Amino acid sequence: MSRIVALTGATGFIGQVLWRRLEEAGWAVRALIRPSYANRHRDELHHKKFIEGTLQDEERLSALVDGVDAVVHCAGRVRGLDRAQFQESNVEGVGRIARLAASQQRPPRFVLLSSLAAREPTLSAYAWSKQQGEVALQEMAGRMDWIILRPPAVYGPHDRATLPLFQWIERGIGVQLGERHSRFSLLYVDDLTAAVVMWLERGPHAGLALELHDGHAGGYSWADVFELVGGKSVIRFVVPKAVLSATASINQALARIFRYDPILTYGKVRELRHPHWVCDNTELTKLLGWEPSISLVEGVRRSLHPDERVS
Ligand SMILES: NC(=O)c1ccc[n+]([C@@H]2O[C@H](COP(=O)([O-])OP(=O)(O)OC[C@H]3O[C@@H](n4cnc5c(N)ncnc54)[C@H](OP(=O)(O)O)[C@@H]3O)[C@@H](O)[C@H]2O)c1
Repeated sequence: MSRIVALTGATGFIGQVLWRRLEEAGWAVRALIRPSYANRHRDELHHKKFIEGTLQDEERLSALVDGVDAVVHCAGRVRGLDRAQFQESNVEGVGRIARLAASQQRPPRFVLLSSLAAREPTLSAYAWSKQQGEVALQEMAGRMDWIILRPPAVYGPHDRATLPLFQWIERGIGVQLGERHSRFSLLYVDDLTAAVVMWLERGPHAGLALELHDGHAGGYSWADVFELVGGKSVIRFVVPKAVLSATASINQALARIFRYDPILTYGKVRELRHPHWVCDNTELTKLLGWEPSISLVEGVRRSLHPDERVS
C-alpha cells in the first residue's frame, strides 16, 4: 500500500511541482486546498485526494494529517501588508499543523518549507514570519522527525515572480532590482522538490534548518545572471531604489483601499536590496547526499520553454 503524505500549499507554484514529484515517487498525496481554489477547479480535482480547508481550520487540518506517514508543509503567505496577516498563516499555521501532526499516535515525518529570508527577520514582515514559523515547528515538533528547508529564490515554469525578469533578459534587457554588488543564490524548483522527496524517503532525523541552492558557489550578481542567461549584449536597466520605494508606497495605499495582497511593499524592497542572499549546500549534502542538478542556464531554458525537449 502507498505511503500517505499530507501536502499543504499544493495549489501554489512550488506545491504543484511537489504534488507531481511525490506521486511519481509512489506517495499517495492528500492535499490541503482552500475552498476558493477548489470551487474554481472542481473538474481538474475530481480524481485527486484532497481536503478542503485552510491553515486556520483546526478540524480540516486534523483530517488532513490523520494517519499520514509524512507531512510536507509548503503553504505560506508570500504577499501581504502587515505582520498580523503573515503571522496568521506563516507562524500560527505552522504551529497548528505541527501540533496536530505531532499528536498522532504514530507521528509522521515533517518537512517545513521555510525560506532563506528567515535568516534576516528584521527585513520584512514576511522574513520575520518565516523565522517565527521555524520556531513554532521546533516548539510543537515533539517526537516527530523533522527538517526545515530554507531555499533562496526558487524559479521554474509558471512562477509569476521570476518569469517576467527572464523574459526581459531573453529580449535583451536586464532589469536590475537590487544593488550592483549584491549577491544571491538561486534554485530550480525540481532540485528543491527532489530534496524534499529524498529526505522523506531516506533522510535521517535532522531537527535542523538547512539551506540549499543550485550549486553555483558564491551565488550570482545581477550582472552574472544577465550574462549567463542572455549573453554579453544584454542591456542593463537599473531600477533606482527611490522608484521601487515610491511604487511600493503607492501599491500599499491601493492595497489598503481595494483590499488585495500586495507583493511589492517596503519590506519586499528591503529584501530585494539586501546585499547577501548567498547560501551553502554543505550541511544538506552531508546529511542526505543531495546534489543540485539543474544549472541556471538550463533552469531558465526549461522555465521559458517548458514544452521544448532537449534533443
Ligand atoms: N517561490 C520562492 O522563491 C520561495 C523561496 C523560498 C521559500 N518559499 C516558500 O515556499 C512556499 C511556497 O511558495 P510558492 O512560491 O509556491 O507560493 P505560492 O505560489 O503563493 O503558493 C502558496 C500556497 O500556499 C497556499 N496558502 C497560503 N495561505 C494559506 C492558508 N492560510 N491556508 C491554506 N493554504 C494557504 C496557497 O493557496 P491558494 O492557491 O489558495 O492561494 C498556495 O497553495 C511558501 O511557504 C514560501 O514561503 C518560496
